[in-house]
Amino acid sequence: MHRLFVAIRPPEDVRDLLIDAMDDGPELRWVGDEQLHLTLRFVGEVERPVANDLAAALGRLRFGGFDLRISGVGRFDRRNGGALWAALEPRAPLAALAAKIERICQETGLPPEGRAFHPHITLARWRGRSSGAADAFVERNRALSSAPFTVDRFILFESHLSRHGPHYEAVAEYALD
Ligand code: 2AM
Repeated sequence: MHRLFVAIRPPEDVRDLLIDAMDDGPELRWVGDEQLHLTLRFVGEVERPVANDLAAALGRLRFGGFDLRISGVGRFDRRNGGALWAALEPRAPLAALAAKIERICQETGLPPEGRAFHPHITLARWRGRSSGAADAFVERNRALSSAPFTVDRFILFESHLSRHGPHYEAVAEYALD
């Protein structure tokens, strides 16, 4: 089985900005540079033929490039842990691109994504109860922002899970033009 997701990879200067905002508190597990991405659609585990069909169908998607910028940070609090993330603006082109990818996923036979699309770049995760470090991070980075950057492609990633955390492999890249 192949664990897939479709995502945008921020450029190096934006990744540097995000990494500079991270601190090294022990309560939070910070994401490494190579793991920073914005998920457009989590596909999950699929067999090889479905992966191939999806990769081919994504190649038929037509969508223009657009600009994004980092605009603030936020957090998800779940019962057994949580995450810190960077937010992006504007949301309209992201939502439109995600909707097109969603349609392609369904045409490929995948079940619909039931959850609302909430664009974010995960920066850190924690297990168990939220720590003061997460509060401090959100407080300190409320105004985090980047210059606009151009999104000119999206990527189909395969996630390889291991004891050392996930490793994301770019399986295919798709130009936006
Ligand atoms: P996250 O950053 O908020 O954890 C690879 O796992 C990517 O897919 C991550 O960006 C992750 O979001 C996203 N994702 C969305 N839904 C997921 C799910 N049900 N399980 C794992 N990852 C999911």
